[in-house]
Amino acid sequence: MPRSPLHTPLCDLLGIEHPIILAGMGGVATAELVAAVSEAGGLGIVGAATMSGDEIRSQIRRIRDLTNAPFGVDILLPANVGGAPPPAPAAGAEKAPAQRFELRPEYTGWVEEVFEEFDLPEIKDEPAGAGGIFGSDFTRRQVDAIVEEEVPVFASGLGNPEPFVPEVRKYGGKVIALVGNVRAATKVAQGGVDVVVAQGHEAGGHTGRIGTMALVPQVVDAVAPTPVVAAGGVGDGRGIIAALALGAIGVWVGTAFLVSKEANWPDALKKRILDASEEDTRVTRLYSGKTMRNINNPLIEKWEESGLKAMPMGLQGMISGKIQRAAREAGKIELTMNPAGQISGMFHEQRPAKEIMEGLVESGARVLENLRREGVAV
Ligand SMILES: Cc1cc2nc3c(=O)[nH]c(=O)nc-3n(C[C@H](O)[C@H](O)[C@H](O)COP(=O)(O)O)c2cc1C
Repeated sequence: MPRSPLHTPLCDLLGIEHPIILAGMGGVATAELVAAVSEAGGLGIVGAATMSGDEIRSQIRRIRDLTNAPFGVDILLPANVGGAPPPAPAAGAEKAPAQRFELRPEYTGWVEEVFEEFDLPEIKDEPAGAGGIFGSDFTRRQVDAIVEEEVPVFASGLGNPEPFVPEVRKYGGKVIALVGNVRAATKVAQGGVDVVVAQGHEAGGHTGRIGTMALVPQVVDAVAPTPVVAAGGVGDGRGIIAALALGAIGVWVGTAFLVSKEANWPDALKKRILDASEEDTRVTRLYSGKTMRNINNPLIEKWEESGLKAMPMGLQGMISGKIQRAAREAGKIELTMNPAGQISGMFHEQRPAKEIMEGLVESGARVLENLRREGVAV
């Protein structure tokens, strides 16, 4: 096989052809998309944030049916991960009553207003799930699945994977961590990760405050010699070569693959991304409690105008979850979460992931060639 025109040390590190990684988009990057990207010479990563250990195992089996190429699994780590377990209750102590979290009236009032204003149907409350996912037991079972299945790449989209580095290393796996600032980058690099992904503000999904152009070189300098991959706003070869020029050895690409045929995402939501311009996203804490870039919608506008403070991740779902279930039932899917980046304006049709990969590689090669010949990228 000829060497990729974009070959970098990332290709040797991960055993891939092109230095292009499919972002581990939660619930969107599932087996078919992951396998398609890996088969096309990139690294597919499962977005397993909300998947149980068993669900992760079945994704891994499906991927291995579809390809022999390397792939990864991305999960979100809670802040207390790897910490000491909570102390056991003293012998004979009374068991604390199960805590049930009640929303304060300003939040329930806001939810009622939303139901009225958007004409949403009444639906039953779901049993409180707070703490069920993003808890340390849940995470441990996710990690067990990754380690026992010897997944080539373990990626953390949130938090510091340091406690898990030794067990992944033991079977020869690599560890990647996503960060949005220099402080977090330094921490995960000191924790021994193999690659730091510096994700800029323009990215889709959970995102920080620093733009990719400013963030990447500062992270590169801070964590050297740990290699850095750039994320946020990469849509074609120009973005790839820009990332390399900033000192990254590869790119981590979300939105461009979110609109692929294989992405596990409703067509109606993909269509909104394909119709969007670069100005149609907004960062909000509405859906998860953390800053997340979404395709803007009237519900986000209403939340941002309310002045309400978002609750921590896990609990904020008590506000947004019920509204989203009702919106889906009412066919108002445009009110539901639709994370996408500022690069959305670049994409206008759904294409197979293989074609998207080929487009990224070909346009990257062309940009490099033009730069060599003319000193300009396009
Ligand atoms: C729909 C969607 C879901 C995402 N979910 C996750 C996730 O579960 N874990 C994670 O590490 N990153 C997640 N991200 C962020 C991506 O990993 C990535 O950093 C981002 O998409 C890169 O920017 P781009 O969209 O401009 O390419 C998500 C992004 C999108 C668009």
